[in-house]
Amino acid sequence: MAMWALLHLLTTALVLLSWPLTPATANLEGDALFALRKAVKDSNNVLQSWDPTLVDPCTWFHVTCDGDNRVTRLDLGNANLVGSLVPELGKLQRLQYLELYMNNLTGPIPKELGRLKSLVSLDLYHNNFTGSIPSSLSNLSNLNFLRLNGNRLTGTIPRKLTKIRSLKIFDVSNNDLCGTFPTSGSFSKFSEESFKNNPRLEGPELMGFVRYDTTGNCN
Ligand SMILES: *[C@@H]1O[C@H](CO)[C@@H](O)[C@H](O)[C@H]1NC(C)=O
Ligand SMILES: *[C@@H]1O[C@H](CO)[C@@H](O)[C@H](O)[C@H]1NC(C)=O
Ligand SMILES: *[C@@H]1O[C@H](CO)[C@@H](O)[C@H](O)[C@H]1NC(C)=O
Repeated sequence: MAMWALLHLLTTALVLLSWPLTPATANLEGDALFALRKAVKDSNNVLQSWDPTLVDPCTWFHVTCDGDNRVTRLDLGNANLVGSLVPELGKLQRLQYLELYMNNLTGPIPKELGRLKSLVSLDLYHNNFTGSIPSSLSNLSNLNFLRLNGNRLTGTIPRKLTKIRSLKIFDVSNNDLCGTFPTSGSFSKFSEESFKNNPRLEGPELMGFVRYDTTGNCN
């Protein structure tokens, strides 16, 4: 067989092999959101328009994109979703608003949310999240609003969160957190209201005396 014929055959085979993979790789953010759709029970059908075969998720209801067709908002507050969050959400690099308050979401807050560098607002209040507050959230340097109140979160409040200078509102009230709460950095502007109704939370940390820093445990 002539060399060109062999090459042609190989090229054709390669094109045929790679073609069906193209939509999936071109739609990374849609895939990430679709992973969430699969992880929740959606009895109000608010995610019905989330069709993973579309070129991007920008026409899906409750999803907003920027001019580059990258996801900037996810608005699913009070949507009667039952289930858990998926680590794939950490792939939405331009996400600014993650609004999932007032659902019935269980399980942990994925540490991968700490990769959402553009995030301005993380609203997970009034769900049923368990586990601890991921310290990775301290990497969200643009965050203004962090509302985790009304869940079943345990462990300590990561002290590293105090380094988020942009933080304006912080609410972890009505959980089961323990230890002391930080008062330095951005936390100097938060009142005890932000921390109330955590029966095992002892009060503000004493200056220069950090008992519960690295382990996240209170014992
Ligand atoms: C959280 O879970 C408990 C027990 O399953 C349930 O009674 C409660 O209604 C749930 N909370 C929310 C906000 O759905
Ligand atoms: C929340 O979900 C749990 C199961 O995951 C269920 O037992 C509970 O009844 C739900 N609560 C509400 C208010 O829907
Ligand atoms: C924050 O981001 C840096 C750089 O990407 C990474 O090395 C570090 O582990 C992250 N911190 C946490 C607590 O995840």
